[in-house]
Amino acid sequence: MANLGCGQPCRSDADAELFSESVLSLDGGCRSDCSWDTVAALGAQLLGVEAQPMGVASGERDFGGHRLSGYAARIGRLTVVTTSGRDEWQPDQYARFKAEREQPFYDLLELVEPVPGGRIVDLGCGTGVLTAVLHAKTLADETVGLDRSEAMLEQSAKHAGGGVRFQRGDITEFTGLDSSGLDVVFANASIQWVPDHASLFPRLASTLKPGGQLAVQMPANEDHPSHAVAREVAKQSPHAEALGGFVYRHSIESAEWYAEQLARLGFAEQHVRVQVYLHRLPGPEDVIEWVKGSLLTGYRDRMAVEDYEAFLSYYRQQLLSELSDERPFLYPFKRVLLWGRRE
Ligand SMILES: C[S@@+](CC[C@H](N)C(=O)[O-])C[C@H]1O[C@@H](n2cnc3c(N)ncnc32)[C@H](O)[C@@H]1O
Repeated sequence: MANLGCGQPCRSDADAELFSESVLSLDGGCRSDCSWDTVAALGAQLLGVEAQPMGVASGERDFGGHRLSGYAARIGRLTVVTTSGRDEWQPDQYARFKAEREQPFYDLLELVEPVPGGRIVDLGCGTGVLTAVLHAKTLADETVGLDRSEAMLEQSAKHAGGGVRFQRGDITEFTGLDSSGLDVVFANASIQWVPDHASLFPRLASTLKPGGQLAVQMPANEDHPSHAVAREVAKQSPHAEALGGFVYRHSIESAEWYAEQLARLGFAEQHVRVQVYLHRLPGPEDVIEWVKGSLLTGYRDRMAVEDYEAFLSYYRQQLLSELSDERPFLYPFKRVLLWGRRE
């Protein structure tokens, strides 16, 4: 089973499997964050047919050497495309996206010096797969992955063991694991969701032992149309009303600000840089798939499903009118990587 479109694991596999042995889930019921337009367009493209709003699209076509036949339909919150063929290309595409998303983690990990026998916390650990890599590479004795999302932590269970464990917690309240200090505080692609870095950084620094390391990676792409258009759409009616005036910005300061902050907090050794990751996406519409799993969740979580679908549809229209139609599409993505060692 492949999950197209929403970029999140399907939570309704059981339902989906009622329809066919081979199911491509285009929405998967995962909070209905894919609009019907998106789903229908993907389904119709896959099946080579015309999408009909809230209806069933059926057809067949040659696809990657396989004959696919099936239909796209929305059933309650679940939208499925059933096929009799195989879906070989999506996992490859997913793997390529996954590798691109993981590269900054590995670049950050390169900055961390091993701490044999040490204690580490991975703030906003997500599914935990990278927490286990962090633990192995640093030779730590104990690594705790902390996340506030139950859904993420459910997936992390399989990476626990051998000194790795996971616990639920909120970074905004994190003041250490216990009274003994940590050797490494690691946060990859998580603290951009946490406001007020002027108070967060002193708090994180205070959880480290003398000689402890802080390693953080954050997206810093607020000036790209993918982010700027979302802010503009959020300010316009009726989306502004649906959002109660909320306009999302990641909590991120300049690289220079972090360098000064680290120095003031007693990180005598430090490394702070902005790195541009140039993603080659199949087309401009894939930028939307990219931000749906990250930036746009900040909007989705604040809106009713129908309001978010309207927001997403208008965002898509506005963004695609600003982006060139080159294929592959070059999507430069800036990130701040920082590392420091406390005196
Ligand atoms: C983009 S994911 C990154 C996951 C992981 N660090 C990785 O590199 O794959 C961001 C994670 O941060 C978590 N997160 C966001 N804000 C948080 C908070 N205030 N406290 C704890 N976790 C948080 C989210 O639940 C999500 O799992």
